Amino acid sequence: MGTQALKYNQNSLNGEIVVPGDKSISHRSVMFGAIAEGQTTVTGFLLGEDCLSTVSCFRQLGIEIELDKDKLLIHGKGFKGLKEPNEVLNVGNSGTTIRLLMGILAGRPFHSTLIGDESIGKRPMTRVTNPLSQMGARIDGRQNGEYTPLSIRGGETKGITYHPPVASAQVKSSILLAGLQAEGTTTVIEPEKSRDHTERMIRQFGGKVEEDGLRVSVIGGQTLKGTTIHVPGDISSAAFFLVAGAIVPNSCITLKNVGLNPTRTGIIDVMQEMGADLTIDVKSEDPNVEPVGDITIKTSNLKGTTIGGDIIPRLIDEIPIIALLATQAQGETVIQDAHELKVKETNRIDTVVNELSKLGAKISATEDGMIIQSSGTLSGGTVSSHGDHRIGMMLAIAALLSDQEVFLEDKEAISVSYPQFFEHLNQLLINE
Ligand code: S3P
Repeated sequence: MGTQALKYNQNSLNGEIVVPGDKSISHRSVMFGAIAEGQTTVTGFLLGEDCLSTVSCFRQLGIEIELDKDKLLIHGKGFKGLKEPNEVLNVGNSGTTIRLLMGILAGRPFHSTLIGDESIGKRPMTRVTNPLSQMGARIDGRQNGEYTPLSIRGGETKGITYHPPVASAQVKSSILLAGLQAEGTTTVIEPEKSRDHTERMIRQFGGKVEEDGLRVSVIGGQTLKGTTIHVPGDISSAAFFLVAGAIVPNSCITLKNVGLNPTRTGIIDVMQEMGADLTIDVKSEDPNVEPVGDITIKTSNLKGTTIGGDIIPRLIDEIPIIALLATQAQGETVIQDAHELKVKETNRIDTVVNELSKLGAKISATEDGMIIQSSGTLSGGTVSSHGDHRIGMMLAIAALLSDQEVFLEDKEAISVSYPQFFEHLNQLLINE
């Protein structure tokens, strides 16, 4: 476990960076490439640890995947080409890998066991194992299928209509992936709209999916065809520099090639509402593919706001960095309706509140979120990512607001989604 000493004397960030590939889309590109027939080429793939876990699981399932820098060549074999793995499938820290993979395995007539790291071992799985069992898969795991290790024997499944109790793209995608192999129609009706990368990717691979508001349906027995996927930059990674640009004095940052899927852009809406000086240059808006653009952010005068309701799934991963943003806004910011934060890589209500408090932020936890007051300059101290990539990056950005040294423990977690994070941060500091 490494500790990084962070001390930024030169208080300004300038220049442009090309944001690394979107994690959600990178995972799905491997999975769809594997279950489609024929070759799939992926460019802009995220070489983060989570996505590499997906690659290694599909290799164990018999899929040949060639990796050359951020380019992938996947030799898809169709659902029926997946083979029973000889060894346990290890998803590392990745919730997306385990939950979506379970959906794929639900329709495969063989046995697999899935494990992950300590954090995965605490994350709820009945949200996928229950509906997949209803479809006909045989699944078991610790505490009645709630926690890893999970074992699954898939096979013939039947379509269901499912109302997940929470808006979760991982749950929706898992059921849709099972539905593509099931008899009849599978429908998911969400309480709020979650990210729709799976729906878009089904179409990109030549499949059919019907969407009507919060209702999404697929018919089973579809054959998908290999294709080319260009992964846009991850808005959830861009978010750290969007916030840094807004709160660090005399800054101007352009983030190139950022994915602008409307199911992911809640942070832009919130920053604009708070008064951020932000401009967006949209480059492509093809409704069947993923929209992309460049975002420029300048140091801004911010005011507090209330964030809750159906915007939450559109910014769920950005809440740690939004909490830091709120410490630099005038007045109070309330984040509510965000219970889901408790079951992310860490309990992100606790980790955000505890770690930011150590740096002098005025922040308190509530049952479903947090309340943040304008906190001014932060102090130094020793903080930890607790093995959570987004907490680690948020704390590194927080260190830019401190005139004393910040020691960040367990910095390695950052490589889960943004291995070049410190390189990009240093690049923006030098450009002043
Ligand atoms: C993801 C969906 C979100 C998000 C996660 C990635 C995905 O989780 O927090 O980082 O790729 O589908 P939920 O769908 O469980 O909210």
